[in-house]
Amino acid sequence: MAAEDDFGVEEAGAHRDGHAEGLAANRALWDSLAETHGTTATDQSYDVEAFLGGQQTLRSIERELAGDVAGKDLLHLHCHFGMDTLNWARLGARVTGVDFSPVAITRAQDLAEKAGLVADFVVADTQRLPESLAAGFDVVVATYGVLSWIADVDAWMRGAARALRPGGRLVLVDIHPAFQTVLSFEPFVADWPYGGGEAQHVALTGTYADPSVVTAPRQTVQFPYSIGEIVTAAASAGMVVERLAEHTETESDGRHILPRGADGLYRFPFSDTYLPIMYSLRAVAPRTPTSGS
Ligand SMILES: C[S@@+](CC[C@H](N)C(=O)[O-])C[C@H]1O[C@@H](n2cnc3c(N)ncnc32)[C@H](O)[C@@H]1O
Repeated sequence: MAAEDDFGVEEAGAHRDGHAEGLAANRALWDSLAETHGTTATDQSYDVEAFLGGQQTLRSIERELAGDVAGKDLLHLHCHFGMDTLNWARLGARVTGVDFSPVAITRAQDLAEKAGLVADFVVADTQRLPESLAAGFDVVVATYGVLSWIADVDAWMRGAARALRPGGRLVLVDIHPAFQTVLSFEPFVADWPYGGGEAQHVALTGTYADPSVVTAPRQTVQFPYSIGEIVTAAASAGMVVERLAEHTETESDGRHILPRGADGLYRFPFSDTYLPIMYSLRAVAPRTPTSGS
C-alpha cells in the first residue's frame, strides 16, 4: 500500500514484473543525464547560457494550451533540471517542479538561484505524488518524454488530477505513440509496440541532447501507451478531456531520424501526407471533485 503521505495510489505499477528495478534503473539513467545535459558545448536541447540570458525555452504548443499563467500556481511534472519550469516562472506563474531524479532537482535549485527566480522543486515519483501537492494547482504541465517512463499511467493521471484545483487544467505534450514505434525512417524500421503498456527493456547509449556524448549502454524500462489508453486514463481519473491534437511537425527531433524541411521543421512523410510526431492533450479537473481517486 502507498505511504500515508502519498496520493493514496497503490504501489505504482506493482502489478508489472520488476517495476521497482525498472524505476531504479530509469532513475540511474536520468541522474546521469541530468548531470550531463546543458553542460557540453554541443548540446542541441539545453542551452543554459541562453536561458540565463533570458531565452524562452517553452514551445507554442504548451503555452497555448496552458493559457495565461501569470499569478497561477503551476506544477511541472518531469521537470528535469528545471529550465522549462523556470520559464513558466518567467511568465508569472508560481511554480513547483517535480522529478524523481535527485541530481536533476539539485541542478534545478542551483539554476533557479543563478537565474534569480523563485521556484519549489520536489523529488518524487510522479506515480506517487506527495499529499502536500493535492489540490494546490491551477495548471499541471508535463512535456516531451513523459509517459513512456511510467509503468502505471492510471496512477500518473490520478496524481495529476488530484494536484489540480477544481476547474484547473492538465497540459500534456508528448511524443506521439505512432512515431514512437519507429526506430528508423530510412530504411523504415518499426520495432516498438503501439500501446499496451507492457514493459520494454531497452539499453540506451549517449543522449538525445548531444549525439557527441558517448556512454556505455544503460538499461531502462519503458512503457508504450496508445492515444486511446492515454485519453482513457485521463477520463478515468475524473478529468474532462477538452482537446486532443496530433502534431505533424516539430522544431526538433530528439531521436535524429526525421528529415528536416527547408523551413527548419521536421516531418514524418507518409504516402502524400504526414504522420503525427507529437500529441497534445488538455484535460480539466471537474468543478466538483470526484471522490475516491
Ligand atoms: C525527457 S525528460 C523531460 C524533458 C523535459 N520536458 C525537459 O526537456 O526539460 C524526462 C524526465 O522525466 C523524469 N522522470 C522519469 N520517470 C519519472 C518518474 N517516474 N517520476 C518523476 N520523474 C520521472 C526524468 O528524471 C527526466 O527528468
